[in-house]
Amino acid sequence: MTITKQEYDFNRNVIVQPVGRGAAGRQDSVNLSYGFPATELLPVEALNQAALESLVRDRAQALHYTGGQGLDIIRNWQLRRLRKFGIQANDEHYLAVYGANQGIELTARVLINPGDTVWTEAATYFNAINMFCYAGAEIVGLPMDVNGVDVDKVEDELKRAAAGEGALPKFIYVMPNFQNPTGTTLPRARRERLAKLARIYNFYILEDDAYGELRFEGEDLPAIASYAPDRTIYLGTFSKTLGPGLRFGCVIAPREVADRMRCLTLNSATSPFTQEILGHLLQNYDYDAQITRLTACYEARRDALAEALGSTFGDEVRFQLPEGGFFLWLAFQEETDTLRLAELAAERGVQTVPGRGFFAADGSYPFIRLCFSYCGEREIEEGVRRLAAAYFDSRR
Ligand SMILES: Cc1ncc(COP(=O)(O)O)c(C=O)c1O
Repeated sequence: MTITKQEYDFNRNVIVQPVGRGAAGRQDSVNLSYGFPATELLPVEALNQAALESLVRDRAQALHYTGGQGLDIIRNWQLRRLRKFGIQANDEHYLAVYGANQGIELTARVLINPGDTVWTEAATYFNAINMFCYAGAEIVGLPMDVNGVDVDKVEDELKRAAAGEGALPKFIYVMPNFQNPTGTTLPRARRERLAKLARIYNFYILEDDAYGELRFEGEDLPAIASYAPDRTIYLGTFSKTLGPGLRFGCVIAPREVADRMRCLTLNSATSPFTQEILGHLLQNYDYDAQITRLTACYEARRDALAEALGSTFGDEVRFQLPEGGFFLWLAFQEETDTLRLAELAAERGVQTVPGRGFFAADGSYPFIRLCFSYCGEREIEEGVRRLAAAYFDSRR
């Protein structure tokens, strides 16, 4: 069998490896790279119980293609939960997917024709860059500041594109809460304005809210989808709160988009058995208490990371404290080669992700993303000590 390349350019794949695995890595390596939740806070006992109960309740039905009652329970639960972020959706907007990643992939498949333009925050989530590239899109990175994507500049760009200077986007991909990788949060006014622009310039917004539940401080903000439900495809997931191994998330989309996505998934996007377990769990589980446990833990880890960075690096680096989520974005001086630095740090026993992978355009990016959710506070301090040692050594 031959695989033809067709119009997809797989050579543009941004491969992001947590630097430090393999030969260069050490047994006692500290993992500040990938966005994993804290292992000890995953609800193992509750899921075990839910799995037992779902087999008792639904018997073999839980193992059929159609599953049992689980999916209905989850759908109703998620639609209710999303009202917290101002989203008023119903069954026809809802699609169960195997995670936010599948929501990104389906959006790319439904909306992108080869040669279309997609706008993203610069920096953005590397898997999204890859999926948009596979679908044949041209990616344009949008400027960001401490409050996320700069909507004034987005409006300028839209005006220029509408005047024939460049292409209007098919959609804009944004993470308004605790953005991956920068940790920034888009203020209410910017969300509202982006939603208005989507209507004026006739594009969709792909709103990836993988981290929205994990707020340590400040108040929950309305989702962009709450301002423009007819223009927004919203993605939620249980990966960051109950466990990525569940592979379960949801898409809330305008009906015409949701219908097309449903066609593409052939009604088998998620595992019926997982649905039964998750459905059972959600019926009896104090999810808010789980969120409180997670946010308390992650806030302490974020603070430990910030303190360690301050005391080891001093004025050599800049960073902003994220109000939630998993990530802190560390900015070095312009000339710093962070790819090399990440390799040196890995040799010293700390894994990080250098900035390059978060940008679609070639260039040198003096950033490193640090994930504070996975390791305990002492480990984080040790990881930062190793990273700082690598950095100061490399400058001698
Ligand atoms: C912004 C963002 N979107 C999506 C995902 C993937 O989510 P899921 O596990 O639900 O597919 C991640 C995970 O790292 C992420 O950071």
